[in-house]
Amino acid sequence: MEKKFTVGIIGLSVGRIHLDGAVRYGAEIGGICDLKEDFLEEMGEKYNIPAEKRFTDYRDILNNKEIDAVILATPDQLHRQQIVEFLDAGKHVMCEKPLALTREDLGAIVDAASKSDRKVMVGQICRFTPAFVKAKEIIDAGTIGDIYYVESEYAHDYMHILADMSIWRADPLRHGVIGGGCHAVDLLRWYVGDPVEVFAYGTHKLLPQVDYDDATISVLKFPNDIIGKVFVSTGCKRDYTMRTLIYGTKGTIICDNTSPTMRLYTVGENGMAEEYETIEVDVNNHNAAREFEVFADAVFGKAPLEMTATEGAKTVAACHAIVESAKSGMPVKPDYNF
Ligand SMILES: NC(=O)c1ccc[n+]([C@@H]2O[C@H](COP(=O)([O-])OP(=O)(O)OC[C@H]3O[C@@H](n4cnc5c(N)ncnc54)[C@H](O)[C@@H]3O)[C@@H](O)[C@H]2O)c1
Repeated sequence: MEKKFTVGIIGLSVGRIHLDGAVRYGAEIGGICDLKEDFLEEMGEKYNIPAEKRFTDYRDILNNKEIDAVILATPDQLHRQQIVEFLDAGKHVMCEKPLALTREDLGAIVDAASKSDRKVMVGQICRFTPAFVKAKEIIDAGTIGDIYYVESEYAHDYMHILADMSIWRADPLRHGVIGGGCHAVDLLRWYVGDPVEVFAYGTHKLLPQVDYDDATISVLKFPNDIIGKVFVSTGCKRDYTMRTLIYGTKGTIICDNTSPTMRLYTVGENGMAEEYETIEVDVNNHNAAREFEVFADAVFGKAPLEMTATEGAKTVAACHAIVESAKSGMPVKPDYNF
């Protein structure tokens, strides 16, 4: 009998979504790992993972020859070390976003990935969100013509998350634009390419416990004469959303990841946007099942890997440029040379 694709999942908080995605795909769960024993047991029971496959030390998964691939859903600061170790151990890796927080860590990961024959995929989950996927299809079909403006926002209230300042998320290197805003930046990169220059302003009124801006607005210049905007607020007083707009010469798309509908404007015969269509979409802003399928297809050579380590690093590089511009008050050209 052919061996099943066997995976290990490290870090089970957001990692439980990946565990669910892997189980739905039909993968063999070779091991689950979390430092918190109670939580590990709870997840093990929920997904019928036998006790001998539940670990508190990720090296038990690292050293298990039966495991083909791992999903890393551990704190951002651990990604570099763990990716490198798992590649050295011959495992394919899917790692949560952001790929890493520092330029040095990004470079080391890209380097390790380029020297390995294993796959490294970065889990930029918005690339699997139904509304955002539909928008990409509409853009690529040319339905809204030549794009001239794009915008996305990442609005999420971290007040409760950052009530405890001893946690890894409170690291000043994990600026909101990098930690969460990377979703909006990556989405626009996916739609229209790498921003060539950014300019940003920040403000700080909502999260007094951190010493960096909790809201940032950036304007971006993309290739092909496209302009754009990314707004990030990590203290906002509203429901989580990533409202996203794409303006083209023949139409406009308005969508987000928390609404069951999106709107598509197209021009009528007179060239005016006199019609719009409301498109129904699933609300699934953590579509880990599809993400896992894409990872497996890449591992088995069924499809090229799009969200590589280099891609993940470029998204963070664009975020770094936004943070730097807000600090310096100067336009910044992101450095994509890894
Ligand atoms: N794609 C998304 O939308 C999304 C959402 C949330 C978080 N994330 C990312 O996922 C990662 C994890 O975030 P989270 O929200 O789950 O964090 P968290 O702090 O809520 O949970 C991390 C889990 O990992 C465990 N852990 C920590 N170090 C470990 C180690 N060395 N070995 C085994 N387990 C370990 C902890 O016990 C904890 O249960 C981060 O990179 C974060 O940026 C992505």
